[in-house]
Amino acid sequence: MPRKRLAVFISGRGSNMEAILKASQAEDYPASIALVVSDQADALGLQTALDANIPAFAFERKEFASKAQHEAAIVEVISAHDIDLICLAGYMRLLSAEFTERYNGKLINIHPSLLPKHKGLDTHARAIAARDTKHGCTVHYVSEEMDGGEIIAQAEVSILPDDTPDALAARVLVEEHKLYPSTISKLCQS
Ligand code: GRF
Repeated sequence: MPRKRLAVFISGRGSNMEAILKASQAEDYPASIALVVSDQADALGLQTALDANIPAFAFERKEFASKAQHEAAIVEVISAHDIDLICLAGYMRLLSAEFTERYNGKLINIHPSLLPKHKGLDTHARAIAARDTKHGCTVHYVSEEMDGGEIIAQAEVSILPDDTPDALAARVLVEEHKLYPSTISKLCQS
């Protein structure tokens, strides 16, 4: 079976993108990254993608007159690269209903909490403040509602008595780097 073609959307560091890239180097991995899109021209992950010879493009919102035009440019590059699945990986921009509906069932995200708990930002600090005992990460389909689409897979970590947001984030990130590649693999086999 031909490998599924992934587009990965980033805004910064791109460590989840790198984890997918590493996983895809295994001969039997059913997908490969065919495109990287960033909304920040200085995103570190763009260089990682270019170093791996992956087509990578920055589309900064300020270069477009409207959100619709910004997304139209992104849709064009997705179409040109024959993409099967779009994986948001630290993409810090809300997508419109038009965009999420166009790619319904082909657009996923990784979020650093056990959804439906702690949608949005600062999830690690909020999990500690809420005195949760469990935290983690979720891969979900993306719908118009932020962090509200159907849950596909989750990984848990325990919150320790003296945890700090940074220490907790680092342990969750380790799980993200396993959960995202493995979930993509399952989705691309079905
Ligand atoms: C990750 O924690 C991801 O779950 C969240 O943003 C962070 C992105 O990190 N949405 P990276 O760019 O993949 O390193």
